[in-house]
Amino acid sequence: MRTRQEVGAQALDMARHVACLRGWHPALGRAEIAALLPMLETERLNGRRLVGLTGDASMDDLAAAVEVSSGCQAILCHAIVWDHQQNQSLDALIDSIVDHLGDHARTGTVAVRAWRHEGRIKGVSPSQLAQRIGGRLHDQGYSIDLETPEHRFGVVIDASSNTIVCGWMLGYGEQSDGLAVRKAAERPFFKPVSLDPRLARLAVNLASGPVKTGTTIDLMCGTGGFLIEAALSNRSAIGIDLDQVMVDGTNQNLEWALAAEHQDEHKALVLKADATSLGEIPAIEAHRVVGFVLDPPYGRNSQGSLEPLALLEQVLLSASSVAHQQAGLVLILPMHPMGEHPNEELQDGVEVNLLHGEWKDVQRALQTSQWSIQGRWAEHVHASLSRLILHATVAPQD
Ligand SMILES: C[S@@+](CC[C@H](N)C(=O)[O-])C[C@H]1O[C@@H](n2cnc3c(N)ncnc32)[C@H](O)[C@@H]1O
Repeated sequence: MRTRQEVGAQALDMARHVACLRGWHPALGRAEIAALLPMLETERLNGRRLVGLTGDASMDDLAAAVEVSSGCQAILCHAIVWDHQQNQSLDALIDSIVDHLGDHARTGTVAVRAWRHEGRIKGVSPSQLAQRIGGRLHDQGYSIDLETPEHRFGVVIDASSNTIVCGWMLGYGEQSDGLAVRKAAERPFFKPVSLDPRLARLAVNLASGPVKTGTTIDLMCGTGGFLIEAALSNRSAIGIDLDQVMVDGTNQNLEWALAAEHQDEHKALVLKADATSLGEIPAIEAHRVVGFVLDPPYGRNSQGSLEPLALLEQVLLSASSVAHQQAGLVLILPMHPMGEHPNEELQDGVEVNLLHGEWKDVQRALQTSQWSIQGRWAEHVHASLSRLILHATVAPQD
């Protein structure tokens, strides 16, 4: 049998925890988990869907982040990150898991959940590995409960990096988190502008950070895309729209979504108001707003008062005037497809071709209203449309 030291040498890295991301836009998922756990250092591991998390966070912080996250399937705690060599026996990995269990024992019933990322590693089957680990857990005195375990031991087999990651698990794993089945088109008040729940949830989290005191504002709520996700994550949230039809429609969608999720209480409010004058809205407490999400109208403002760029400039200015000093903003703008989507964060100098207006004008509008760009990503919609997803934070004042 191998000694613990030899086994340790096989483990590439002992990152404290590992976040396992969904296949949908892992680059955005990485930014989201970093925003939800600002007290931790995040580091992309070899696989694009694996993020190492180091630093001090309580289990409650980790559980709260994974609970509301859109892009994170699970966090494997005190994870073993195993570099798997082709045709290598898994005995050494199983031994290192048993060692790990000695250091991180749990009381209560357990189950093993194993799933694949990005294809297959030859000779490594999730169900066989889960059975073997389950057998060893049983040998260690754990009682197995596959239906309703108190603890789950997660195993992710990432073929893109030939890595197997294991640890006590928080989150849904490869089970549905509910976002996949919630379709905007099924809501009672639907318009083609309605945002997909997975993107809307991610934007709310990226803009606002951990669920805590502080408000998220959906600046132009339309049918309520962002607002509903903020309310379902138990955030304090305000949705604003100039159009009473949209305000009524958002309220209708909100009630419907809460009932569908069996959620009795929420901290969300929908107001008919102008996002260019947030300081005049009594419900908005100045400097308490931690997150702004903005999906502006595609053409001229439906009320016909302002051109798109002038509207954007005024809303951004108004937002920074009520923002908390660490507030974040996520802005979504339609753009022409960029050819092959790198699905990675766009580099600083990369030009984007917006559907309406010029990128340099948007950049200037952000700068003059004290928003500092933190990241940009492209999301594919269809052959002739993509979206720019931009994350900014309030620029520090001198
Ligand atoms: C693209 S839609 C938002 C879609 C929304 N994200 C959804 O999921 O349905 C833009 C919305 O901005 C609203 N709007 C336009 N000008 C506004 C302003 N000055 N203040 C507040 N809302 C405004 C429009 O009435 C419209 O409902």
